Amino acid sequence: MINKGTFIVFEGGEGTGKTTQAKILQDQLNTNNILTILTREPGGTKESEEIRKILINGKINKWDGISETLLHYAARREHIKKKIIPELKKGTWIICDRFFHSTEAYQGAGHGVSTDFLNTLKKAVCEDLVPDITFIFDQKVEKSIQRIKNRNENNRYENFDINFHNRVRKYFKNLKNTSNKNCILINADDTIKNISDKILLYVQQNFIQS
Ligand code: TMP
Repeated sequence: MINKGTFIVFEGGEGTGKTTQAKILQDQLNTNNILTILTREPGGTKESEEIRKILINGKINKWDGISETLLHYAARREHIKKKIIPELKKGTWIICDRFFHSTEAYQGAGHGVSTDFLNTLKKAVCEDLVPDITFIFDQKVEKSIQRIKNRNENNRYENFDINFHNRVRKYFKNLKNTSNKNCILINADDTIKNISDKILLYVQQNFIQS
């Protein structure tokens, strides 16, 4: 597949500010006449948003880890096939709030689903689609948990214990070592302005021809 648009992903724990930053970047790119869609996982299409509801709502341990992984990948397949790839082919830029690294972090590092299983699914579902860049938002779990207390959406993942969230954080943090060309670690303790400036600069230098 030849992408004409750029595919940018934001990853990290809940409450690290990635969604706010994804929106800021979308606005900045659109202001610069680069047509950019902001989307999210799980979700992004009607069917994937339906899967999101059953993944996010309800009792903390409602899913077996493998079932949960399959649901995330079912939502992702719909999203990729019906939205991400068609838009990238048209030349639209995509900013996606979470992508497959979240499955590796939450279902893999968090729940203990095997790397082999995750890699097999990733290959079958995503084929050769990989983000051009992934920004990973990092912050101490104790701090990010404080930030999500005022949210409206009930998200059962937020109720997993601190050890679960620390495993997720550790996985995300380590990505810069394992796939360093495509991942940039962002210190989520920094100010909103400093973070958005840093991200925009990176995008301008690497993806926008002057
Ligand atoms: P959020 O988009 O508001 O952060 O909520 C999505 C939740 O879904 C978040 O708690 C992380 C979780 N999640 C997974 O466990 N695996 C995945 O593959 C994805 C995309 C999200």
